[in-house]
Amino acid sequence: MDQLMLLKPGKDYAEGIFRYRNAFIMAGDSMDGTGSLYRMPDPEAWLDQVTDLSRPETTPEEWVTTSQYICVRPYDNRLVGMIQLRHSLNEYLQQYGGHVEFSVLPDERGKGYATWMLRNVLRYAKDYDIDRVLLAVEPRNAAGKRVIEKNGGEFLDKVLDPEYEIELERYSIGV
Ligand SMILES: CC(C)(COP(=O)(O)OP(=O)(O)OC[C@H]1O[C@@H](n2cnc3c(N)ncnc32)[C@H](O)[C@@H]1OP(=O)(O)O)[C@@H](O)C(=O)NCCC(=O)NCCS
Repeated sequence: MDQLMLLKPGKDYAEGIFRYRNAFIMAGDSMDGTGSLYRMPDPEAWLDQVTDLSRPETTPEEWVTTSQYICVRPYDNRLVGMIQLRHSLNEYLQQYGGHVEFSVLPDERGKGYATWMLRNVLRYAKDYDIDRVLLAVEPRNAAGKRVIEKNGGEFLDKVLDPEYEIELERYSIGV
């Protein structure tokens, strides 16, 4: 597999973040693991929010502190994926959101990138006293479920997310 790097995003990747967002909008695909990027067309504003959410003292009360990572392929410096690790869960996330969400550029899928990203982000969970990482995925998302299973995901149950009126399968991974 190609060599990859997991990085905290900075302004040097503003162009890549802009392109990432556009690629998902063009594809009509779900921008999982990108926080508020869908609602924030300005990469610099998104980067500021990512910084705020990375520290408890600047995380708004109703949010949870979160580490945002970008996945970059060194040989062409392309930002190919994004993944988030929430440091804790509120009541809603405990039921429907989970600790980790991720996505890979539509034209870079099927290369093992998401599997690699999840494996590498799980190593940081212990830093936040997380013993079991919780993930939620739509039943029809075969690729998402496969990525979780390949990283040791154990099926927990099915729940109905009342906010979005969608069924979700919950998995947990011991770390
Ligand atoms: C889910 C997603 C991240 C996968 O990214 P990826 O880099 O292509 O994933 P990987 O290459 O690491 O692995 C994909 C696995 O799913 C399998 N897969 C892909 N499409 C599949 C399908 N339609 N049915 C069954 N398996 C499928 C692949 O064969 C591969 O498994 P394998 O290695 O055993 O062959 C990507 O499709 C995506 O960004 N989707 C939109 C966001 C999303 O759904 N995120 C997940 C929810 S948090």
